[in-house]
Amino acid sequence: MPFRKDFLWGFATASAQIEGGGAESEAASGRGPSIWDKYCETPGKIEDGSHVNKTCAHLDNYKEDVALLAKLGVNSYRFSISWPRIIPKGGRNDPVNEKGLQFYDNLIDELLKYNIKPMITLYHWDLPQELQDRYGGWLNQEEIVKDYTHYAKLCFERYGDRCKLWLTFNEPWCVAAHGHYHGKFAPGHTSDTEPWIVGHSLLIAHATAAKLYLSDFKPTQKGIIGITLNGDWTEPYDDSPENVKAAQNKMDAAVGWFADPIYLGHYPESMKEMLGDRLPEFTPAELELLKDSSEFFGANTYTTNIVQAGGTDEAAGKAKLGFVTKDGETIGWESSMDWHRAVPWGVRKYITYLWNRYQKPIYITENGYPTPGESSIPKDQAIHDDLRVKFYDGYLTNLRDAVEQDGVDLRSYFAWSFLDNFEWNSGLIPRFGCVYTDYETFERTPKDSAYWLGKFFKENITA
Ligand code: BGC
Repeated sequence: MPFRKDFLWGFATASAQIEGGGAESEAASGRGPSIWDKYCETPGKIEDGSHVNKTCAHLDNYKEDVALLAKLGVNSYRFSISWPRIIPKGGRNDPVNEKGLQFYDNLIDELLKYNIKPMITLYHWDLPQELQDRYGGWLNQEEIVKDYTHYAKLCFERYGDRCKLWLTFNEPWCVAAHGHYHGKFAPGHTSDTEPWIVGHSLLIAHATAAKLYLSDFKPTQKGIIGITLNGDWTEPYDDSPENVKAAQNKMDAAVGWFADPIYLGHYPESMKEMLGDRLPEFTPAELELLKDSSEFFGANTYTTNIVQAGGTDEAAGKAKLGFVTKDGETIGWESSMDWHRAVPWGVRKYITYLWNRYQKPIYITENGYPTPGESSIPKDQAIHDDLRVKFYDGYLTNLRDAVEQDGVDLRSYFAWSFLDNFEWNSGLIPRFGCVYTDYETFERTPKDSAYWLGKFFKENITA
């Protein structure tokens, strides 16, 4: 078997994307509003006008969902905790919502009943709105680090006896870049200074909470903690020095922005050159805090880009991203989202790059595919998702080769996603799920890909 005995196989989700069962159910649950509630209520922000409070009703159906995960054969499940569900106003002096705390107790207990290991993401983008209003959210490093660490500590205390796998943040790049530069995600800012301030706060919040776990909880709870970053392989358009540099600049601006400080102790040079004094500097104390703050490399990866020099997007290192090679060939095959084409060979190059550069065990925490046209066809057709099966088959084959032939230390694979769900500013239109969600009845129907992956997982679970 190429994969480790203790390899984690499962599906991933996030609180804001699946929990909501409608305004009434959410109000009764005591969850406070997150920045995504406000964003959904701002006209024109969500493509289909859907609202984060009505998604898959997982809150009301978690037992059925866990039973389905068990039936499919996973040995692990990655989900996130909604900060405003357990501390509705978010702050360190604000009251907790016992009902919310209890929900995650129940979910964890249900998973453990089936021997499914929980992996918890502490922050998958649903910041309590109150903290945004009170002091500007991630823009206020001093305040947010204290509040986030208080929230993280509450989770370690409450769930750490049963949860041994922790992620501080999901994709800080999206929070900083889509939230504060492109204005595509809540809170919807478009600034050319804020993203790097936000990024700095996210790094320090990550490191402060992780170090707290490592010193005060790990010795007794014996879990692991890290951060998960989004990134995709960047293939230079040709071997001209400017395009090779552009590909590296994109990698630096997307992945290195967070990974280099954590694993290598500094921001990437190319970002310093590009941003000058818009990129904050680390104090010696911050660098010390960041050092050894992530025990592994958490990787979310979806696609591959052909990269040329001459772009303008600073969040992409001013690289120009495309999918067409210099020979005029379009790589991979299309999905329902313009940024995503399925390119199986790219994933092997990407994780080999991460392994060589950062030398940390790699946990793939997301990988998935939204099949084109799936939202406009009836369920009985959508569940036969051949292209998604082809995607998983291709990506997993390449990951196996990376392990077997390139020596990459790979330890988990979580498919994104378990259910069709709320795809942020695209609303309920893209369907990333291996299980079909009927948004009227909340009925779940596994697609062919769910059974295909379940079989693959079962064949590879050896411990
Ligand atoms: C995020 C998910 C999202 C997925 C597909 C990742 O960026 O972590 O929340 O649904 O990609 O776009």
